[in-house]
Amino acid sequence: MTIWAPDADGIARAAAALRAGEIVAIPTESVYGLAGDASNPVAVAAIFAAKGRPAFNPLIAHVLDLDAARREAQFCAVAERLAAAFWPGPLTLVLPRAPGGVVCDLACAGLASIAVRAPSHLVARALLNLVGRPLAAPSANRSGRLSPTEARHVIDELGEGIPVLDGGRCSAGVESTIVALTPGEPGRLLRPGAIARAAIEVIAGPLTAASAGPIAAPGMLASHYAPNARLRLNATAPVAGEAYLGFGAYHVAGHETLSARGDLQEAAGRLYALLRALDSTGAETIAVAPIPEEGLGEAINDRLRRAAAPR
Ligand code: TXA
Ligand code: MG
Repeated sequence: MTIWAPDADGIARAAAALRAGEIVAIPTESVYGLAGDASNPVAVAAIFAAKGRPAFNPLIAHVLDLDAARREAQFCAVAERLAAAFWPGPLTLVLPRAPGGVVCDLACAGLASIAVRAPSHLVARALLNLVGRPLAAPSANRSGRLSPTEARHVIDELGEGIPVLDGGRCSAGVESTIVALTPGEPGRLLRPGAIARAAIEVIAGPLTAASAGPIAAPGMLASHYAPNARLRLNATAPVAGEAYLGFGAYHVAGHETLSARGDLQEAAGRLYALLRALDSTGAETIAVAPIPEEGLGEAINDRLRRAAAPR
């Protein structure tokens, strides 16, 4: 098992491995990613294989900054403004691919669009700077399962064969928000995530649903982000034998809570780690308190519904 510390030596080792075409799990502020050189189809193929991910499902290209993103994607005015407001940070933009970009077709699943994001995690930024190329990185879990928010979760998911650059616990704890922009059309929210819809709409105007247009995120399957246990949502209390995840006023002594003070950001940050921990107790059903559908609650409820969906 190889875990690299988030110091100059660890980051240099990770960068060397990535430049050599190997895959490495890396921290971001949202969740851990399974990274490979996005310009190298062999590295990208290794990502799909390690995750058991269908190759029709494209990967996000992670870049250091807007300049690097512009080499891969065509930025309209709204995209420029969103990047200025939220990058580096957990916002992914799906844009037309730019001619001459280095990201390989396999990473884009052959689409004419590309997903780009500049992460804010300092270790990810130092690594991108050293590698000098975009990194393709899906969340570092087996396909369909909970995303990892700590280095040891990556090992639980993918085994000991893939080196992990340990950047500590992810601060946001849910995946980036994905917005698709097609010139002349309103932006589409392909995936609610770590940046609340309302903050994006201040800049981009009202976002339409993913299903409103031709571009959908192929990875947004009904069943996803799933623990082994069954989930029961909007539960005001557990019934006998259930594990319980409370929120705010819905708190049951002796059970876990996403946020005792009803803070959605704290809840998002703890969601996957708590589901993972309750799962490992062998609980058959995890009952989850009602979560308000506002702010980051949209992303939390999206993940909970997919985790609860029939498999
Ligand atoms: O926070 C995140 O976004 C994390 C970290 C590692 O950056 N990454 C992540 O990647 O969640 P992944 O692969 O688990 O989810 C990316 C989603 C998938 O649903 C994929 O279908 C969608 O983005 N996607 C990627 N490229 C796309 C494109 N060109 N058009 C539409 N959807 C795209
Ligand atoms: Mg994922």
